[in-house]
Amino acid sequence: MCGIIGYTGRSQALPVLIQGIRLLSYRGYDSAGVSVWRDGELRVRKDKGRIEELAPRWDPEELAGTTGVGHTRWATHGAPSQPNAHPQAGGAGEVALVHNGIVENDLALREELEAEGVRFSSETDTEVLAHLYARAFRGDPVAAARELLRRGRGAFAVAVQHRSLPDTLVAVRRGSPLLVGLGVRENLVASDLRALVGRADRVLVLGEDEIAVVRPESVEVYDAAGRALEPTARPMAGIEQDLGKGGHAHYMLKEMHEQPERLYELLAGRLDLARGRLRLDDLPLSDREWRGLSRVDLVGCGTAYHACWYGARFLEVAAGMPARAVMAHEYERGSVPLGPDVLVVAVSQSGETMDTKLAVEAARAGQARTLGVLNQRESVIGRLVEGVFDMHAGLEVGVASTKAYTSMLAALLILGLRACGARQPDAGRMTELADALRALPDHVRTALARGAEAQAVARDIHRASTMLYLGRGLDAPTALEGALKMKEISYIHAEGYPAGEMKHGPIALVSKEVPVVALATQGPWRDRMLANVREVRARDGEVILVANDGDAEAGRLADFVLRVPATHPWVAPLLNVVPLQLLAYETAKRRGCDIDQPRNLAKTVTVQ
Ligand code: AGP
Repeated sequence: MCGIIGYTGRSQALPVLIQGIRLLSYRGYDSAGVSVWRDGELRVRKDKGRIEELAPRWDPEELAGTTGVGHTRWATHGAPSQPNAHPQAGGAGEVALVHNGIVENDLALREELEAEGVRFSSETDTEVLAHLYARAFRGDPVAAARELLRRGRGAFAVAVQHRSLPDTLVAVRRGSPLLVGLGVRENLVASDLRALVGRADRVLVLGEDEIAVVRPESVEVYDAAGRALEPTARPMAGIEQDLGKGGHAHYMLKEMHEQPERLYELLAGRLDLARGRLRLDDLPLSDREWRGLSRVDLVGCGTAYHACWYGARFLEVAAGMPARAVMAHEYERGSVPLGPDVLVVAVSQSGETMDTKLAVEAARAGQARTLGVLNQRESVIGRLVEGVFDMHAGLEVGVASTKAYTSMLAALLILGLRACGARQPDAGRMTELADALRALPDHVRTALARGAEAQAVARDIHRASTMLYLGRGLDAPTALEGALKMKEISYIHAEGYPAGEMKHGPIALVSKEVPVVALATQGPWRDRMLANVREVRARDGEVILVANDGDAEAGRLADFVLRVPATHPWVAPLLNVVPLQLLAYETAKRRGCDIDQPRNLAKTVTVQ
């Protein structure tokens, strides 16, 4: 994902910017760039590629200067290329601007600026901001920054410099995170704490719609109305120790809380949420090839397999595409009928899982087409498949996968929509889904804010020795994923089932001692789910229901309710898993378990 670094002080800016870019690299990127103020001009160097290839080409003499900005870009609007890399120039080069996030109304703004005679040199939404800033600038950087907040829609973090202000950086934050690092006679701007390590003593977290004017010996912060604020900086020592966990007690909790932003960036990067158009030009299959497929096999293990299950159901329900999820270790060379009309999608956070790698090799040996839904493009599986849908979920440290799971579901949903577009396009449905996806990050945020509900349930169930999780339709894999989270980190035995399977055996387990978690939010499956819940109640079972806000009937049936906002049934699994992640986390915490590194488990399983 994109990253921002800015520096103003007494030292040469270029080495600081290059180091910042290196520190931001873990987020994944496809191009990078810097701009440095020198002799009255902003000197920009940028291109696609890794910093290791680019930095040697940036001449420290030509770029000698003490104020500049740097950026790592992960392409959303326009392919990775020199013109599309950041910094983007505004006006006639008097502005250099770097940007994280998405400007949702970029096309309208671009048309308006073009009508006023502005010539664009990139396909990016960022360039719109650079020109807006240049046109609004009359010597006052705050006024120009306010114009970005007034005109831009979406989530964006921006660092910008103007030719006429040699030692000044301006930072603007809406939605996407942005920090100001305070040092000794030098200050920095960064999108990630990691980029400030070793340079800043204190850090200032910009609030929503705030503007910072950063100079070597001063930092001023303003709100969107231009009123001066007096925010408090926190010492870096202490934060640094906790750097990886971002202030949370565990990586798992931090990673759960990253989901709204990760989902927003993935979805908005791949789907024009305003117009419902997909951006998947980097993936290999054409419309004709999608139509020519007889089947899609999705392969993965553990959490990734649950994502495959959702992906397969979604392809069937939404695109009428025959699809199935197969545990990668069961996908053996020679035992699966394959051919060029079969697409095998390998789903893996690490991209290194041996079982999944072998499944891809089996697919290749059978002449099938291959795609990877991965969090690491440069991985063993990434190098084997024809194309990679890079989830860009960021580093996941907690062994129990959380943000990678919701990112997998989002990626598979987008792939499903791609199949729909080729096989049975339906503009109305796309608009409906785009609306639901636009609201999803906020819905996930709402669910995450309800940790107290999960704590109350955890208090009640933490001594249980067995639990059941039930879901139907697209939420059947959510039930399995909820159970996996619980058993992985709390060591409570938990089983997930499609609820229809209950009467065929598992109901024999139901008793006062076995809590049953049931998912009952999705329109078409809710009523049948509530019927299953009544069967559990009739046998004295304790019921914990994941239900929609305002669903009074569900509330009456359950001992505990974990509430989530209502959403489109196809999108619900991306939201419904959140309270189950929280429940597993709170239960494991009560039981004093090692949450980030549960016993016997490895983050990446590179053996069969
Ligand atoms: C999930 O919480 C587990 N850590 C595990 O099931 C994991 O999803 C599985 O091993 C697959 O890993 P991968 O996504 O890296 O391929």
